[in-house]
Amino acid sequence: MCGIVGYVGPRPAQPIIIDGLRRMEYRGYDSAGITVVADGQLAARKKAGKLANLEAELLAHPLPESHQGIGHTRWATHGGPTDANAHPHLSADDRVAVVHNGIIENFATLRAELAADGIEFRSQTDSEAVAHLLRRQLDVTPGLADALRAVCRRLEGAFTLVAVDAAQPGLIVAARRSSPLVVGVGEGEMFLASDVASFIEHTRHAIELGQDQVVAITAGSVDVTDFAGRPAEVRPYEIEWDLSSAEKGGFDWFMRKEIFEQPHAAADTLLGRIDPDGRLCLDEMRIDRALLRSVDKIVIIACGTAYHAGLIAKYAIEHWTRVPCEVELASEFRYRDPIVTRTTLVVAISQSGETMDTLMAIRHAREQHAAVVAICNTNGATIPRESDAVIYTHAGPEIGVASTKCFTAQIIACYLLGLYLAQERGTKFGDEILSLVEELAGIPDKMQAVLDSLEPMKALALDLVANKDFIFLGRHVGYPIALEGALKLKEISYLHAEGFAAGELKHGPIALVEPGVPVFVVVPPQGRDSLHDKVISNIQEVRARGAKTIVLAEEGDPEAGAFATKLIELPVVPTLFQPMLAIIPLQYFACEVATLKGYDVDQPRNLAKSVTVE
Ligand code: M6R
Repeated sequence: MCGIVGYVGPRPAQPIIIDGLRRMEYRGYDSAGITVVADGQLAARKKAGKLANLEAELLAHPLPESHQGIGHTRWATHGGPTDANAHPHLSADDRVAVVHNGIIENFATLRAELAADGIEFRSQTDSEAVAHLLRRQLDVTPGLADALRAVCRRLEGAFTLVAVDAAQPGLIVAARRSSPLVVGVGEGEMFLASDVASFIEHTRHAIELGQDQVVAITAGSVDVTDFAGRPAEVRPYEIEWDLSSAEKGGFDWFMRKEIFEQPHAAADTLLGRIDPDGRLCLDEMRIDRALLRSVDKIVIIACGTAYHAGLIAKYAIEHWTRVPCEVELASEFRYRDPIVTRTTLVVAISQSGETMDTLMAIRHAREQHAAVVAICNTNGATIPRESDAVIYTHAGPEIGVASTKCFTAQIIACYLLGLYLAQERGTKFGDEILSLVEELAGIPDKMQAVLDSLEPMKALALDLVANKDFIFLGRHVGYPIALEGALKLKEISYLHAEGFAAGELKHGPIALVEPGVPVFVVVPPQGRDSLHDKVISNIQEVRARGAKTIVLAEEGDPEAGAFATKLIELPVVPTLFQPMLAIIPLQYFACEVATLKGYDVDQPRNLAKSVTVE
């Protein structure tokens, strides 16, 4: 939800921290702040709004030169997006500064206790309480790491905390519970961040912090313990992403770049998972094969776009494995007493691997003894760490808040899982699996063909940009595509857009159709039962009521164009594979409309890339 950065080393800290925050801004952009330690004192600047506001403040009121500091970019939870609520938060005597990502659930009790001690709060945040607690604890346990450990033991909720003490220069301490934190190990310098993108330019050596751990860094040392102070095992790893994957590379928006990266992301997600005989080899599926064969129910849990990927996966997984598959919003899952047993396979889909709703859902599932497979894009994030197995989508960093390349990569990963289960359970013959795998392997080229023909979407966006309401329709796997197309438009263009199952139209939503309203319709490939013809009828129904119909259909479909105001042709693929192609023009359309409206496509209002609160 928030982005955190820390640096200690020989170089000036401010530019490193500001550059790091720029790469963390996707996590929140309600305010930004920095504190440096210089000459035994703290100096802080913080500003509401985007990082640019903080940069302007730093020009107007420069910080002293320093080689150690912490920074924060915020997505507001407790307290509005004001200068006062921006992090870092300082203790009353300005000796200690703290940045925080997450929510301190017992903050009201802590705040009351501190207030009774005579401490006056300068903000409305939960986080400020930590700065005061830490300062008070330093009088009892003078070491900053000892003091942070003691404070952490009193905190409830999810948090990453990073702190500095003016009286202990050269030292930064941090703690992690259910929110991400990585250490970047440089040559005589150290970095801390919510995500490796923040320091990838400086080092590729990283250490992932585990649950309930505290790290103390100096320019030349890293010391990790648990909250009780016992030395903890660390997991060093090399970062595979390069800097270019965290930069726009000539595109106006990360989102547009990521739309165009989809063939690459899809190919990388398939890489190494199909052996030369066409058999699936998911080495990372560490769940006992006998258990996979005995699974009698699959439950997919996810949020937002990942949930839409799950809705699509259900059609394929049930079709290939004949195992009942439910798809559930992670935020609803544990509150309805779901029926989950030892023979339930839970599939958690999450780009970030840190969505709190999904994390809480998998914890609940594991308490019921279900096996959990995560489908995740972020190496070592909390959700894969807490799952029994993980299938990584190798889509590279996704920085635009609106998820694009990870959506299609998630569908691919789910399909790999479905086919793997079919292979293990023998519900498909080897040659059937081989032909489906070949179809999947052909998707990246077909995605490229869709990307190569997007030019007309610009004129379409120009034509429709003044409209206020949009409808998206689809059946079968086209239905989740309608939901996802509408979500893309909502989140970055702030337009009212609704996705419906096309068959539901006549049960109510058709009342919304009036002359001129744009209706996007995903038409299934021809010849699949009567599904295609049913959707063609739905197009006629809305067309008859004056709608502008934007029809996405496979090339050479003779009927699709007849009632289309605008026809968007897609390469020919079997029905189950169409979503990975059909979504691309809809993503692009949303990006175009938001651009025409002059909105910040990568940082839409009120949103953050990772939702680490429930
Ligand atoms: O990181 P996750 O995949 O768990 O995130 C889930 C949703 O928050 C995310 O897909 C969100 O809906 C995106 N903004 C959609 O574009």
